[in-house]
Amino acid sequence: MAGCLLKFCIAPFAFQSRAGTTANSGCFDSATYAKKYLPKIAWDYFAAGADDCTTRDENILAYKRIRFRPRMLRDVSVMDIRTKILGSEISFPVGIAPTGFHQLAWPDGEKSTARAARAMDTCYIASTYSTCTLEEISAAAPGGLRWFQLYIHRNRAASQQLVRRAEALGFQGLVLTADLPYTGKRRDDVRNGFRLPPHMKVKNLEGVFEEDDCSEYGLPPNSLDPSVTWNDIYWLRSLTRLPIIIKGILTREDAELAVKHGVQGIIVSNHGGRQLDEGPATIDALVEVVEAVRGRVEVYVDGGIRKGSDVLKALALGAKCVFIGRPALWGLAYRGEEGLQDVLRILRDEFRLSMALAGCASVSEIGQHLVQFSRL
Ligand code: FNR
Repeated sequence: MAGCLLKFCIAPFAFQSRAGTTANSGCFDSATYAKKYLPKIAWDYFAAGADDCTTRDENILAYKRIRFRPRMLRDVSVMDIRTKILGSEISFPVGIAPTGFHQLAWPDGEKSTARAARAMDTCYIASTYSTCTLEEISAAAPGGLRWFQLYIHRNRAASQQLVRRAEALGFQGLVLTADLPYTGKRRDDVRNGFRLPPHMKVKNLEGVFEEDDCSEYGLPPNSLDPSVTWNDIYWLRSLTRLPIIIKGILTREDAELAVKHGVQGIIVSNHGGRQLDEGPATIDALVEVVEAVRGRVEVYVDGGIRKGSDVLKALALGAKCVFIGRPALWGLAYRGEEGLQDVLRILRDEFRLSMALAGCASVSEIGQHLVQFSRL
C-alpha cells in the first residue's frame, strides 16, 4: 500500500514526459500511453470491471456482432454530423460520460475535461465524484454544454445542495445514476487497496461527512443511499427544473417505469461493466429499451464505444447520442485537454467516414435499415 501511495505522489512529474507525442490512428493509441505512464493503481481503477469483467468485455464484443447494410451512390459530398440532445445542438453525437477522479489522469482533472468538451462542441457529464468542484468546472469552460451526474447519498441535504448548485451554475441536465446502490466488486481495486492519494479529494462533497475514513472511493463506507427508489425521481423533480436523465437502464420494464416517472432521457448503461457482472452488453439492451420507449423520451447509450463505426451502429439502433467513459480518461492521461480532444476528434472523424461509406449524408438518414445482427 505504501508503495502505491508513493507512486501516486510522484505521478505529477511523470505527466511531463508525454509532451510532444501524438496519438492519431485510433483511440486505443491513447490507452497504450495511459497504461504505460499512469501509476498501476490508477490504470487499474480506470480499467476495472466487476468480478470476471465479463460484461465490461462484452460491451465491446457485442458491437462486433453487428454488421452494416451499406447503401451506395447516395451523394455524400456534403456531410452533416450534428445532432441535438434535449434541445441543445452538439457538433457530433459523442459526449463524455461521467467518470470519477480525473486528477488521477491529469493534474487539472475535470477542468481539462470541461475545456476539451467545449472545444469540441459536445456535452460533458460531470460526476458527483469529481476531483474539482462544480464551480471550478464551470469556470474552466464557461458556456460549454454540461450535465451534472448525481449519486444520491444518505445525507440527502448534501445531495439536494449539489443539485441546486449545479442548476445555479448553468448545468443543463441532471443525470441520476441508478445502478450503484453499492459499489460493484472490482478485484484489482481490492487487490491494490485503492484509495485516493492524500492530495486528491471528492471536492464536491468536502466537509459533508464527519468521518475521516475515506476508504471507499474517497468517501466513508456506506455513504451512498441504497434505499433509493423510483419515487425519488419525484423528490428530484421537486428540487429542480432541470431535465432529468436516468442512467443505468437495461430492460424494457425499467424503461417503461422511467417514462412513467417523467424523466426526459435514458442512458442505457451498465456502468462500463463495473457493477453487476454478466448483465447484457449495452448495445444489445439498447434495442429493447428503444422499443419500449417508442420515441417518448430520448435514449442514449454508453459502454464499449471505441470506434466511429460503433457510434454509427448505436445511432442506427435508436440512440440519439453516445457517451464515452474510459476513452476520455485515456485521452486525458495521455495529454490532458489536448489528449482528450484528440480522442474526440478521432471518434468524430471515424464516425463521419463510416456514415459516408454507409451512404448517409446526415444523422437524420441513419436508421435501423443500416444494420443487421451477424450470426458470428
Ligand atoms: C465510471 N462510471 C461512472 N458513472 C457514473 O454515473 N458516475 C461516476 O462517477 C462514474 N465513475 C466511473 C469511473 C470510471 C473509472 C469508469 C471507467 C466508469 C461509468 C461511466 O459513466 C460509463 O457508464 C462507462 O464508463 C461507459 O463505458 P466505457 O465507455 O468506459 O466502456
